[in-house]
Amino acid sequence: METILIALEAFSLLIASLAIYRLWLAPLARLPGPSMCAISRLPLMYHEFNGNRRSFIHDLHMKYGPIVRVAPDEVSFATREAVKEIYTSGGSGYNKPPFYFLFEHFDTGNMFSTLEKVEHADIKKQFAERYSKLHVTKPGVAFAIQENVDAFVEKATERLGASVDIYDLLHCFALDGITGHLFYPSGLHSQTSPSDHKIMEELCYQDGLRRAYFAHYFPALWRVYSKLTGAAKGPGGSLVHAYVLNTTRTSPADPYTVLDKLRAVDARDASRPALLSASECMDHLVAGIDTTGDGLCFLMHHLSLPHPSSQRVQAKLHAELQEHGGAPLDDLPYLEAVVKEGLRMFGPVPMSLPRLVPAGGRVVDGVNLPGGTIVSCQAYTLHRLDEGVWADPEEFLPERWLASEGAAERDRLFFAFAAGGRGCIGKHLAMLEMKLLLRDVYSSYCTRIAPEMTASMEQDDQTVSTRPKDQKCLIIFEKLDNA
Ligand code: HEM
Repeated sequence: METILIALEAFSLLIASLAIYRLWLAPLARLPGPSMCAISRLPLMYHEFNGNRRSFIHDLHMKYGPIVRVAPDEVSFATREAVKEIYTSGGSGYNKPPFYFLFEHFDTGNMFSTLEKVEHADIKKQFAERYSKLHVTKPGVAFAIQENVDAFVEKATERLGASVDIYDLLHCFALDGITGHLFYPSGLHSQTSPSDHKIMEELCYQDGLRRAYFAHYFPALWRVYSKLTGAAKGPGGSLVHAYVLNTTRTSPADPYTVLDKLRAVDARDASRPALLSASECMDHLVAGIDTTGDGLCFLMHHLSLPHPSSQRVQAKLHAELQEHGGAPLDDLPYLEAVVKEGLRMFGPVPMSLPRLVPAGGRVVDGVNLPGGTIVSCQAYTLHRLDEGVWADPEEFLPERWLASEGAAERDRLFFAFAAGGRGCIGKHLAMLEMKLLLRDVYSSYCTRIAPEMTASMEQDDQTVSTRPKDQKCLIIFEKLDNA
């Protein structure tokens, strides 16, 4: 009994000393933030497992300002100086922490899951050209995207006046778009083919948040659990895995596809593990579906609301698109402003993107941080906190993007696609897909929320992305009088 008491006392003393060190003596001790977060990671973990990390951190920034200590060894920033240092210094900013191992597929790494930036840059060189603006706007590539947009418009307007679940349809659109870009002509046609639609369902309707955090925080337990149950860390299941493995191995792919580039890399290096290309393609597929699908879904939902402000934006969009029918996309400033405002307010990747302070420490936005500290910015807060840049941050105002005054400040804080060499490689593809779809819908149709739409569109956060809570969005399409 006495031994147990002594052990308990020793343990309490240890905890108390650790708490005192973290609260008052550690290098991060002077940073603002709740005491409980300074002492333990548990408050942050609690919010992560419950899908509230983004709103928890945002509320902390609202209370404590642009720099907050969110865990004993983790600091969240919401300034452009921090974005510049963390994500763009030396080109690609700081290395990633092991959190990104969550994004491996087939137990094999890929560009996104690679922690070290020099290794990352070597992988990126292999196929980055396939995602450049020049490449995605080449006639052959843009033609495939346009075919996909046509399929969306046809499906959405099949029964004018009846409700359509655009959550489902937009995820099919995004899946067909990214698989076309990766594998054309071996891409999926989930907008029209029921068997391909099952792959979209498998990818988009599962709930992997707790599983992912469990795998991240308890890797040894996870290994046992996944061996016993066959569970995978990331999204997707047997259908999509079989599709990607088979397609990367044997299916035909046109010369301008991503797969064609990867096959050339494989051909040059016989020792390259076969699963590297499959893991890379699987990652792009996952990165390209929910992002474009959810971003468009939040935006079209907002434009369809019965509020005068949404109707005003739709009317201005119709006017621009009808007046400048045949104009190139780059000459449609209001369309561009609507897409950017959608990404500012309801960007599909609003969460912290963690990075590690290099050994030896660094100064981020005037704060000395020891090596190994986890630092991050989150788009949700960068897009709202500084009201000098974002007047009325909760108002959907595309016009803010058209004013020349403050343009540089807005661009520097715009973080929907992140920043630097590790920012979104699919940005030009995504912008093209979103703009073409919105152009073709809103030049001929208006949209409104269906009366039977009761599903919640609240943001339901995943590990770095977000999606509409009830994964359903019923919209009615109607032909414009003058279309
Ligand atoms: C609206 C649409 C999209 C948004 C908002 C978006 C956003 C982002 C963000 C914020 C990152 C950085 C994540 C991090 O550092 O943790 C990222 C990375 C990435 N995105 Fe996107 N994305 C979109 C569409 C796409 C599409 C269509 C693709 C198609 C391939 C794609 C592929 C990727 C890849 C491969 C990376 C990793 C880049 C790297 O490791 O260098 N994304 N995206």
